[in-house]
Amino acid sequence: MTAGSKSRRNDLRRSRRRRQHGCWDHLVVAPLWAAYEANLGTLLRTCDAVGACMAVPNTRHYRAALAHGDTLVRRPHIHWLDRSKLAWIERERARSVVIGVELAEDATPLTRLEPSRKRTVVLLGHEHHGIPDEAWPLIDDAVEIPMVGQGASLNVAVAGSLVLYRLAGLS
Ligand SMILES: C[S@@+](CC[C@H](N)C(=O)[O-])C[C@H]1O[C@@H](n2cnc3c(N)ncnc32)[C@H](O)[C@@H]1O
Repeated sequence: MTAGSKSRRNDLRRSRRRRQHGCWDHLVVAPLWAAYEANLGTLLRTCDAVGACMAVPNTRHYRAALAHGDTLVRRPHIHWLDRSKLAWIERERARSVVIGVELAEDATPLTRLEPSRKRTVVLLGHEHHGIPDEAWPLIDDAVEIPMVGQGASLNVAVAGSLVLYRLAGLS
């Protein structure tokens, strides 16, 4: 790395810090079934990077996971769900497009996903069981990330981050 590129990187960092945002409420990631706190911490950092919000159940598990996994100076806005997950998704549908991130039949491949033009809620599944069956009738579109390797799926925070970058128009 040259002295010039290092100083440019420092300049970029300084300008990013000045432009702190709450979050862009047009993009909400909802890892409603996530079990592992490391994944929630990783997703929170992606929310900060792309200007998205996060929605999670208001339970001890999520409160502890997000307090623990939060390494940010100022964290993105978190919507704490006080109602059932399905009731919350149902309510969100009235004002948002609800996208399920999952390997699913008829899913849109990530490469064809356009930046969101309307408020969008992004549902992510459980690390072992995926998005539960009862949530599917509430989902407008599924998005899948093509894979050519031997693994059956990606880590949920990686999958969510890739989709958030596309929807935010940053990749
Ligand atoms: C580890 S995966 C769950 C795999 C689970 N065994 C299943 O069969 O659904 C956890 C979550 O990550 C997301 N995910 C992982 N890989 C994905 C992919 N290639 N395309 C879309 N979503 C993916 C989905 O939200 C999924 O529910």
